[in-house]
Amino acid sequence: MNRKEIIASAEHGNKAEAFEAFDDIPTNPNLGNTIGDVINRRFGRRELMRGALAVTATTTLFGTTALSTGRAQADAHGDRYAFDELAWGNDETHHIADGYDANVLIRWGDPIFEGVAEFDPMNQSAEDQLQRFGYNNDYVGFVELEPGRGVLCVNHEYTNEEVMFPGLGRQDRADFEGMTQEIVDIEMAAHGGSVFEIAKNGDGVWEVVLGSQYNRRIHAGTEMTFSGPAAGHARMQTGADPEGMTVLGTINNCAGGITPWGTYLMAEENFHGYFWTDVLDADGDPDVSAQAEAVSMARYGTPGRWYAWGQYHDRFNIDVEPNEPNRFGWIVEVDPLDPNSVPVKHTALGRFRHEGAKSIIAPSGQIVVYSGDDNRFDYAYKFVSSGVVTDDRAANMQLLSEGTLYVAQYNDDGTYQWLPLVHGEGPLTEENGFMSQADVLIDTRLAADLLGATPMDRPEDIQPREGGAVFLMLTNNSRREEVNAVNPRPESYFGHILQMNEADGDHAALTGTWDILVQCGDPEIAEVGAVWNPATSENGWFSSPDNAAVDTAGRLWISTDQGSGWGRTGKSDGLYSLETEGDLRGHAKLFFRCPVGGELCGPYFADNDQTLFLAVQHPGTDGTGEFAGFERASTFEDPATRWPDFADNMPPRPSVVVVTRQGGGQIAV
Ligand code: FEO
Ligand code: CA
Ligand code: CA
Repeated sequence: MNRKEIIASAEHGNKAEAFEAFDDIPTNPNLGNTIGDVINRRFGRRELMRGALAVTATTTLFGTTALSTGRAQADAHGDRYAFDELAWGNDETHHIADGYDANVLIRWGDPIFEGVAEFDPMNQSAEDQLQRFGYNNDYVGFVELEPGRGVLCVNHEYTNEEVMFPGLGRQDRADFEGMTQEIVDIEMAAHGGSVFEIAKNGDGVWEVVLGSQYNRRIHAGTEMTFSGPAAGHARMQTGADPEGMTVLGTINNCAGGITPWGTYLMAEENFHGYFWTDVLDADGDPDVSAQAEAVSMARYGTPGRWYAWGQYHDRFNIDVEPNEPNRFGWIVEVDPLDPNSVPVKHTALGRFRHEGAKSIIAPSGQIVVYSGDDNRFDYAYKFVSSGVVTDDRAANMQLLSEGTLYVAQYNDDGTYQWLPLVHGEGPLTEENGFMSQADVLIDTRLAADLLGATPMDRPEDIQPREGGAVFLMLTNNSRREEVNAVNPRPESYFGHILQMNEADGDHAALTGTWDILVQCGDPEIAEVGAVWNPATSENGWFSSPDNAAVDTAGRLWISTDQGSGWGRTGKSDGLYSLETEGDLRGHAKLFFRCPVGGELCGPYFADNDQTLFLAVQHPGTDGTGEFAGFERASTFEDPATRWPDFADNMPPRPSVVVVTRQGGGQIAV
């Protein structure tokens, strides 16, 4: 779809759908450097021996066990996840596997400070929103203070005006008529993150501690600073900040991470969508050709004009402040134990549409941070610090300021290498327009293009695990035409999960081997080309992996975001166990599912796996035209669900859900 088609289709959908459609526009012009005209050199050989790819896909990796036999195996609890899988489906509320409770901890609009009134969606203001939990909770992290008490850190990725504000409906993104500054400022206050203490009450139930010293709202106006090679660079300077060292706010914070030293990493994902221009081409698309940053802007899709912010705030208008977009698209580090601390945007980790920022300590003691660039045909990255983690927390908080950023290049033979993004090395030279390491980092995508990184099917969360394994969520890529071994399906609507094994089990290693853990979608439809362990039931297979977690037993859990495409599976988004070991490798089971129109974020295991935090994002919005009996776009007045309150005066509210085992104990043990 081009921009016009997206806007036209968006009139019948909602903002989340429009975002998904915009994600569909690849901005990487350098496609096809690992082209395979044979479907898949690695798996293809085995598959071709058995005949057509799609027909044999479900049995390729796991032998010839019939699906029905495999299901009997699952019924006998042959896997390591001790729970009975939930039935698939889609309705107005959430569901959890038998024997577990899933209780709402906090909702959009709930106070996070003492003395703040109950939320009234009919009386919103920016000042009021800053006292409350923001919108569209995505990443959830937890820093324990002592058993039964800790600080929860939650990203607020974006806002859905059509179900947040009365009388507004879905905005026409061509002109945003009706979007007042008052509404824009509320949106800005509902972005960012929430940091607040939670504690178990006498009944063992987690509750928000409103009077805690740790409670803090981070938003699109919070003052932040920069670290690393691009800090203070001329391209980071603006009229409001001639030093290039102070920026207001963080936006579109998708997934993230908690570092081993207990800080909160917020990944800035679709930052480009917040920038505005009045300079349009004949098709009505942003025209950046006269901009000094034209090449960079085109590669990042800036400005997206998804929001009206630039009409009221010049810093989001590139016609006025062309360098402001260079100050977004970074990883932000926040100290959740000091509510007065100034968050730091670490330029050493590169600038792209960071999905997340999961970290792990290498055998050397260096910290390694993995991050996907969530766009069709973009790349997987990792950062390796120069210094090592010690017991000096203040020193650890400097580690992300200096190190090497690498981008992944995959070979069809099942190996890969991490390519360093270092100025002066290889093609990253002045001749190619990179005058310094700051240029390499501000234009991470352009640098990675030159290095020959492998364009992937939308890298989402990247989850490392002790021992060298790394799991990469490749959510989908309906635009892929030419396949390669590591992205083996054309028009991949359902996505796949890649397992990488870093050489010698060392997360700082520069080489390793890869294998596809699962190819998602319905295994009963041959054309889908799904690859699951044959023991996976009709409840267990899923589509569009997005976030992931590893529990203390090392078991993998996956949450999904099918966007408006959930109608292709008929299944709500949810949380799935996914076996990575033994005979049941590639076996998935459904544990939790979302209300209609919501995607599942988090997940985060805490409290020695006795507590699981989940984030239900944008309930009632995605693909409600396919919701049987509703079949229209949701609005504030007329939403597909009013989850979780189900009260006539309350629209649906994104909420964090706490999962615990009835009677206590570790989850799925
Ligand atoms: Fe915000 Fe890539 O999901
Ligand atoms: Ca995500
Ligand atoms: Ca998502």
